[in-house]
Amino acid sequence: MKLTGKAALVTGAARGIGKAIALALAREGCDVVVSDIDEPLAKAVAREIEDMGQKALAVRTDVSKLEDVKALFKKTIEVFGRLDILVNNAGIIRRGSLEDHSDADWELVMAVNLRGTYYCSREAARIMKRQRSGRIINISSVAGKVGDITSAPSYGPSKGAVNALTKSLARELAPFGVTVNAVAPHAIETEMSAEWSEERRRAVISQIPLGRMGKPEEVAAAVVFLASEEAAFITGEILDVNGGYLMD
Ligand SMILES: NC(=O)c1ccc[n+]([C@@H]2O[C@H](COP(=O)([O-])OP(=O)(O)OC[C@H]3O[C@@H](n4cnc5c(N)ncnc54)[C@H](O)[C@@H]3O)[C@@H](O)[C@H]2O)c1
Repeated sequence: MKLTGKAALVTGAARGIGKAIALALAREGCDVVVSDIDEPLAKAVAREIEDMGQKALAVRTDVSKLEDVKALFKKTIEVFGRLDILVNNAGIIRRGSLEDHSDADWELVMAVNLRGTYYCSREAARIMKRQRSGRIINISSVAGKVGDITSAPSYGPSKGAVNALTKSLARELAPFGVTVNAVAPHAIETEMSAEWSEERRRAVISQIPLGRMGKPEEVAAAVVFLASEEAAFITGEILDVNGGYLMD
């Protein structure tokens, strides 16, 4: 096990990529805070982790709400006493053309994807700077690099800003032994991509050199690597997990 004795917190961990990350970190020996807006599902993931022999804590959190985020980190320290790994995974998408995209859609996507990542990173930084060690890993998207390809005007910009935030925080926190990286997935089989029509799915796959969709576990494996000792000299990196769709 690569991460024995570490305490990790994953946002949006009730399902999809976040759940796969929480389970993968537990498999590597982490105790895990399973945070999500969906409390019943978060509790179910926490039970799976406890069944694996690790400690788990399910906390209902809306990452766009500062009071929720503050309570989340307070509870984490009360229960685990430290925080070694933060994974900012909670994210949403609102699809539609530019003309149909309401101000409310724009605000919501930015609030969850960007402001949520900022709030959680800020709380984690306070703890990790004190510890003089830590890993922050943001789940971005290929859309943060190339713009959105499924007609979602605010999603790409929110993830592009997450990439810039990743690099800014990587510089600021490096002197404290804290690394900050992102993973940029594309076309992963989850409920987010399940909304695609069959035609859209075929079109997306036709652009992927490896010729298939990715699995949540394949994103989780990249997160485990970035959280591990082997990645100690990597910071400010946006790691593609995209089947070769974008090679940059
Ligand atoms: N699925 C893909 O193809 C894909 C591709 C690139 C990037 N991503 C990114 O990966 C991350 C996970 O996506 P997914 O496909 O697993 O999505 P998903 O919709 O299956 O899961 C998202 C999780 O986040 C939670 N959540 C939503 N709003 C929240 C909030 N305000 N506070 C806390 N939790 C909240 C949901 O309850 C859910 O459990 C997202 O950041 C997404 O943008 C996904």
